[in-house]
Amino acid sequence: MAVLDNGEINRIQQTANIVEIISSYITLEKKGKNYFGMCPFHDDHNPSMSVSEEKGLFTCFVCHKTGNVFSFVQDYENISFIEAVKIVANKVGIEIETGYKETSKYSKHYEAVDLALKFYQNNLKSRDGTKAHEYLKKRGITDEIIEEFNIGYASNNYDTITKLLTNKGYDEEILIDAGLSVRGQTLYDLFRNRITFPIHNPNGKPVGFSARIYEDVKEAKYINTKETPIFKKGKILFNYHRAQNEARRVKSLIVVEGQMDAIRIYASGIKNVVATMGTALTGDHIKLLKKLNVPIILCMDNDEAGEKATIQNGEALSKSAVDLRILRLSGAKDPDEYILKHSKEEFLDAINNAITYFDFKLNYYKKDKNLNKVEDVSKYINQVVKELNKSNDPILIDLTVNDLAANYGIDKNVLLNQIIKIEAPKVEKIAVRKEKKLSKNQKLSSILLYYMMNDIKYIKLYEQELSFIPDEEYLEIANDILAFYLKYNYISIADFISYEISKDNYEQVLSIVDNNIKIELKDADYVGIVNKIKNWICEDKIEELKEKQKNISDINEKLNIANEIAKMKKRMCQNEES
Ligand code: GTP
Ligand code: MN
Repeated sequence: MAVLDNGEINRIQQTANIVEIISSYITLEKKGKNYFGMCPFHDDHNPSMSVSEEKGLFTCFVCHKTGNVFSFVQDYENISFIEAVKIVANKVGIEIETGYKETSKYSKHYEAVDLALKFYQNNLKSRDGTKAHEYLKKRGITDEIIEEFNIGYASNNYDTITKLLTNKGYDEEILIDAGLSVRGQTLYDLFRNRITFPIHNPNGKPVGFSARIYEDVKEAKYINTKETPIFKKGKILFNYHRAQNEARRVKSLIVVEGQMDAIRIYASGIKNVVATMGTALTGDHIKLLKKLNVPIILCMDNDEAGEKATIQNGEALSKSAVDLRILRLSGAKDPDEYILKHSKEEFLDAINNAITYFDFKLNYYKKDKNLNKVEDVSKYINQVVKELNKSNDPILIDLTVNDLAANYGIDKNVLLNQIIKIEAPKVEKIAVRKEKKLSKNQKLSSILLYYMMNDIKYIKLYEQELSFIPDEEYLEIANDILAFYLKYNYISIADFISYEISKDNYEQVLSIVDNNIKIELKDADYVGIVNKIKNWICEDKIEELKEKQKNISDINEKLNIANEIAKMKKRMCQNEES
């Protein structure tokens, strides 16, 4: 049978429970009738994907992706529809006719790489591969590991694999395009006299190789498959296909640089590990990592390049809101050496003690500085403040500011002011706002809010005396301040700005701070402002009453309102006195 018929596809769809199938990829939680989870098709930070068991459909409320069980698997795994049907059938235990050959555009490329892999594997077991085999043994790579990772050996001949595959009917162009052969005077093998490590795509299909020298020769240590239609470096992580399920099970994934590191860690029994193969993480790599929905432990080599890679990859990962930990090993150049020198248990301990990316950067900025020198302290603190400006965690900001203040004898308020001021693009927007002239009442409200942002005693006073500002925008901010105080039982401008307020109010709050930063906070002044706002409220009320008075004809009613207005005016006088 060439393709699956509709009847069979329907049968599979009816048997498959969409919630169970999607649950095998992402965590779903039942809420009411539907299930919810993090949408894997966009950069989701809240569970926005809803799955309906009843309708057999999934929908994301944010990116609007929607579909059935097959389209979910197809898009998640990035495969053809037929492959998705096969996977779903397999998951629900339906046997389907697999007599058909998959006709992918690149099926010949895949086949050629797979044949090469098997050929290299056999070579390693032959007499030709004895030395390479010895090398692996010396490095503690057992036959079991060799088998599991399909490690092989490309012999020292000019064109063995090229001849073998052309004899089997593969076009020369395919062999070149798949990265196995190179055109010189004649066609020859790219990998010669090297140990071959197959690299698989996320679906577990071999798509290329990383090939290592094993003798002391002056050549590149590794030669890797070039970019090919099926091997896209930026989309492939070494060992991802083996690690993904284990990562979901143990709820973390370790990312290392070298495939030898990944192999060592995996062989020690820690199977949730992938390798970047020495390249920087791309957006597509990060997508692959995010799909797993687990914390990432970044463990680059223990040299300067590894440190740079930690910063570069760490920035990219934390920008994508990945839950990130950093592991810097000491006393070994990479995880491979660390496990050989120490043990699996010690490596696990180190993983459990991995630090946050923020803490890593705090340490990183201290390097190459003499923190007994004022100049270096200033440099250091400015770097930390810059980091704090990126954070929206008020607790983290508070703890760090306290630490800096205590360790370097700096006034906490000076630090907090820096934290508000740095954000360049937002300052620009304030400048625009400043041009807008504030009315007298708006100025009053702005000062009132500034007091409240500085000290809880002013919030309490506002709560008792006013609880209201007759300007919608300022009232909303006052409510935000109150809410922040009620929630955390303290107030700090930096925390309030970075945490509690809505986007719409953000600029407004910044301009309030900016406009009033120079005023001196005095209780008496504050009481004066509160009273002026009380009067403003009364004025508003009087206007309202006058309007009402105009529109009624009943004389008694008119009198009543006049009384009310008189009362208001009296209250205003009292406010002015106190
Ligand atoms: P071993 O020396 O076998 O332990 O390798 P390693 O895994 O420690 O590799 P290393 O830290 O030196 O490099 C990290 C990764 O970068 C490797 O796994 C390779 O994928 C890649 N790499 C290293 N050297 C080369 C090279 O000379 N050429 C290319 N193209 N890639 C390399
Ligand atoms: Mn190494």
